[in-house]
Amino acid sequence: MELSKEIKRRRTFAVIAHPDGGKTTLTEKLLLFGGAIHVAGAVKSNKIKRGATSDFMEIERQRGISVATSVMGFEYRGLQINILDTPGHEDFAEDTYRTLSAVDSAIVVIDAAKGVEAQTRKLMSVCRMRSTPVMVFVNKCDREGKDAFDLLDEVERELHIKTLPLTWPVGMGSTFRGVYSLYRRTLSLFTAQDKQRIDHEVVEFSDIASPTLEAHIGKLAPKLREDAALLQGVYPSFSVGEYLAGGTAPVFFGSALNNFGVRELLDTFCEVAPYPRPALTDMRTVDPFEEKLTGFVFKIHANLDPNHRDRLAFLKVCSGTFERNKPYYHVRGDRTVRFTSPSAFMAEKKTVVDEAYPGDIVGLHDTGMFKIGDTLTEGEKMSFKGIPSFSPELFRYIDNADPMKAKQLTKGVDQLMDEGVAQLFTSTLNGRKIIGTVGALQFEVIEYRLEHEYGAKCRWEPLSLHKACWLASTNREQLADFMLRKHTNMATDKHGRDVYLADSAYALQMAQEKFPDIKFYFTSEF
Ligand code: G4P
Repeated sequence: MELSKEIKRRRTFAVIAHPDGGKTTLTEKLLLFGGAIHVAGAVKSNKIKRGATSDFMEIERQRGISVATSVMGFEYRGLQINILDTPGHEDFAEDTYRTLSAVDSAIVVIDAAKGVEAQTRKLMSVCRMRSTPVMVFVNKCDREGKDAFDLLDEVERELHIKTLPLTWPVGMGSTFRGVYSLYRRTLSLFTAQDKQRIDHEVVEFSDIASPTLEAHIGKLAPKLREDAALLQGVYPSFSVGEYLAGGTAPVFFGSALNNFGVRELLDTFCEVAPYPRPALTDMRTVDPFEEKLTGFVFKIHANLDPNHRDRLAFLKVCSGTFERNKPYYHVRGDRTVRFTSPSAFMAEKKTVVDEAYPGDIVGLHDTGMFKIGDTLTEGEKMSFKGIPSFSPELFRYIDNADPMKAKQLTKGVDQLMDEGVAQLFTSTLNGRKIIGTVGALQFEVIEYRLEHEYGAKCRWEPLSLHKACWLASTNREQLADFMLRKHTNMATDKHGRDVYLADSAYALQMAQEKFPDIKFYFTSEF
């Protein structure tokens, strides 16, 4: 069975981190192992660096890079590995949330000195929503960092997941000598000489009680023995099942920059990380091994050239085989579509592909038909779930600043929202349009792109709101009463669903207390 074989050799995942944690560096080292790149420094950072050039130029530069690095595929040990890139700026966190809907697992990078940071916490909560299996890589062990036991506690406490160390650092910072694999019983010795080396000195120990340990790590040997004994007492043995269920995160220590501890991570990842898993639709669960194609769009990338309004839609194949030129059913549009030049992504290159399998990401040329979350099938009417909108953090009214260009503004806003740049709400009170974003930078992006791509001008009016809440209740009377009383704070989202725009945390708390039968959700899917 060709299809079954192809599915089982696919590993599709994302590397997530707080900005500066080392996501780009680790991704690059993984590609280096896969032979997809040959020199360090080949993967461009998609970070938006403020200061050097104007923000707009930075945004455009970042968009250019992010097409190239959206998906980085490579072969390693007979597996097809697809790394999905996530934006390097926290203002674009919503993009990352959506990308996480298309992965089968994730690697969380944590800075050994900083520990768990805000963005990691948020991204991890999205992984938890979907029970995505995660592995943790504690990075920058070559720098003075927190104590390894404290880091494990912090990860458990802050990320709400059980941890299980599979490698253990020998020393930290200036005393960092290597990592000991508790799983394979091997000691990799650290040299910071050549960052592109992928063959470190590895010593196998069937028993670390052996005095030869001293010969390799000197005074650090007794401490390692002590730590290993403690770890053995505290942690159960590694259960792949618990990892796959999203309940336990195996933890690895190392230094991405020095390419150290990365092989242990990658090899274990290849051994245990899941191939594509069944996915939920509004009608049924789709098994990847089903013969018929299904897939959904999780990302849309606009062309950088304003003269070409075409876009690239990223489809995650969920079941069956995707074939070039074959007619597929676009469920929301209720029409048949075919693609003459779908693209696959290898390393940072895009090539036309004839076939793709579950776990793969296919780039589809789009002239404005797709919206984020759209489903393709071979005729079945259903839509994949798990691509929710999250409550924005910032809100502004958007007004037309050029009466001659009203149409352009509407079209521009609609298309940018389809791409998922921000969320649009319409006030129930006065019909005014409200844009909600995760970070302030998106308002700049929208204004800039409306002007440069659509020839439209907008004006912003500040709006101080706390959160957007999607509502659900079986008590219709109470819901109707709530919506009437709060009509000045009610709006509809792009799908016409009712949303309560809470002025403050206090107002929300009062609403929750006064209307106990109503559930307030911070995501559009619950
Ligand atoms: P990000 O994508 O998560 O934002 O992080 P990125 O990989 O860009 O890494 C952030 C900074 O941390 C970079 O330094 C990078 O070189 C450094 N770094 C990554 N891994 C390690 C590590 O294992 N040890 C040490 N000591 N540093 C590490 P930078 O100065 O911001 O950028 P650059 O000028 O080196 O590119």
